Amino acid sequence: METDKPSNREVLLHGLKEGDGAWVSGQLLSERMSMTRSAVWKQVKTLKAEGYVIEASPRKGYRLCVIPDLLLMQEVREGLASRVFGRTEVRHFRHTDSTNLQAKELAARGAPEGTLVVAEEQTQGRGRRQRTWFSPPQQGIYASLILRPAIPPTEAPRMTLLAAVAAADTLLALTPLAVKIKWPNDILVGRRKIAGILTEISTGMETVDYMVIGLGLNVNIPAGDFPEAFRSQATSILAETGAFFPRPLILRRYLEYFEYYYDIFHSQGFEPVMQRWRALTEMLGRRIKVDTIGRQHVGEVTDFDQDGFMILREDGGESIRIFSGDVTLLDN
Ligand code: BTN
Repeated sequence: METDKPSNREVLLHGLKEGDGAWVSGQLLSERMSMTRSAVWKQVKTLKAEGYVIEASPRKGYRLCVIPDLLLMQEVREGLASRVFGRTEVRHFRHTDSTNLQAKELAARGAPEGTLVVAEEQTQGRGRRQRTWFSPPQQGIYASLILRPAIPPTEAPRMTLLAAVAAADTLLALTPLAVKIKWPNDILVGRRKIAGILTEISTGMETVDYMVIGLGLNVNIPAGDFPEAFRSQATSILAETGAFFPRPLILRRYLEYFEYYYDIFHSQGFEPVMQRWRALTEMLGRRIKVDTIGRQHVGEVTDFDQDGFMILREDGGESIRIFSGDVTLLDN
């Protein structure tokens, strides 16, 4: 697991990046790393194996030519402004079954709040309601954060809403997309889903033991690559804008927003976060159908309360409070 202290690998990469495509002498790098020149060469070989393209010349030194588009922590941490999230402990997988599964294992073994698990590809990416999450290699963000908030389990759904706000604000800040949140945690562009959040929780007697908040965000997935079954309902940044986006930048901004709202939640309570959530949703006043376990309700959304519950005025006229469900928007 990577920790906050810069490793030799990080110092080396930083030095090479400072060269900005020009040659950096091996002598200089070995001084910075307090290592012999052959030890520097060994580190360079490790970076090359990770996908960095580095030229080496006995007289000129080293030159960084290509940075791989990977969610390596060195890339995500470059300029990262968070204090804890993504800084304390990070686990990066080239591929794994599901970052949520991996994060749950780490959390059960005591991993601290702010631990981040990221993968370039998931072989069993999971969505809400036992669905699968399409997770092709190097085209999306598959990231799970471990939280240990001192809250009762009944308040845990708030963290999902908070994550949705962080994801939506990230996309609004970095892309021209007019994203909206569909309750509780879908991030939409128009009617298509671009990101989703899967929260899993382990509870003690009265408080949450840990939560794993998994974000799946479709970044550089071509529209035609989505499986047929949900092609008409899914989209990506690439599909919407025609442009490839650097994934480390998106993950970095998400971690920063997440921590920002999490701090607000601790210092001011949940209402300011909920206010932002309300501003980002497209559902107020809309007619919807919502499937809850074993029941279907149809009506107009009148509010979202301070716990994130949806208030629905059913067609019969009665208002109900809904905790979780699958929503279909009925009007345009
Ligand atoms: C949804 O159904 O909208 C939630 C999708 C959540 C997908 C993410 S990808 C990272 C994390 N690991 C998983 O297996 N799922 C979540």
